[in-house]
Amino acid sequence: MLKDSLVRKVSLFADLLDSDLKLIANITLRRSFRKHEIVFHANDAGTALFILQSGMVKISIMDQNAREVILKLLYPGDFFGEMALLDGKHRSATVTAVDKVEALVIEREAFLRLLRSRSDLLMNMLLAVSRRLRQTDEKIRSLVFSDVYGKFARTILGLVHENGEQGDDGLYVDTPLSRQELAQLMGVTRQTLSKLLREYQQSGVLKITRQRIHILDEARLQKEAL
Ligand code: CMP
Repeated sequence: MLKDSLVRKVSLFADLLDSDLKLIANITLRRSFRKHEIVFHANDAGTALFILQSGMVKISIMDQNAREVILKLLYPGDFFGEMALLDGKHRSATVTAVDKVEALVIEREAFLRLLRSRSDLLMNMLLAVSRRLRQTDEKIRSLVFSDVYGKFARTILGLVHENGEQGDDGLYVDTPLSRQELAQLMGVTRQTLSKLLREYQQSGVLKITRQRIHILDEARLQKEAL
């Protein structure tokens, strides 16, 4: 696809004029990342903004023992890298391609010039950043106050909400995440996740086929997520 039409699909740029979109297309580079490739590490220096065109990335943080928590998954049309771009500090988290990823990259100066001249763009960015802050507040609430059932239910419902589809026998979501990554997204151990998946499949709440999670009893998950 031409860069022009890629740029047009990004919600961050939704309210811009055609001439601005052309300009953005001219100042962006295209980059691809293989499945599991690290886009950058937390604490790296970095100034570019990335806009995801295809594939999924995970934003994660690690402790000294390399235990990882996934803060957020991003999908096509989402951007990342704005924090270091704006405040000039190091990258706040590690970003990794969950599957094959194509991204557009804009360097700091060019993007700041654009932000200064287009208040729509600034507003869209602020809206996206405050939406993420809300989601992070929710995540903290879940990690600190929920038991493993609550963490499980919230994460599965979150995946369905962001990427789910309606099938003949109910909602489902396809996810390229490994079991380890799913556990890191929930903030539970791999063993706890296996136990919960077994329990919920036996009681008919879920069905898992390959990379697809079918939701058979959404009301039960909603109740656990409260
Ligand atoms: P930056 O700090 O440059 O590099 C890591 C990126 O991950 C960061 O910019 C944001 O784009 C993104 N990021 C960091 N924390 C979160 C979060 N809690 N929710 C969503 N995205 C985040």
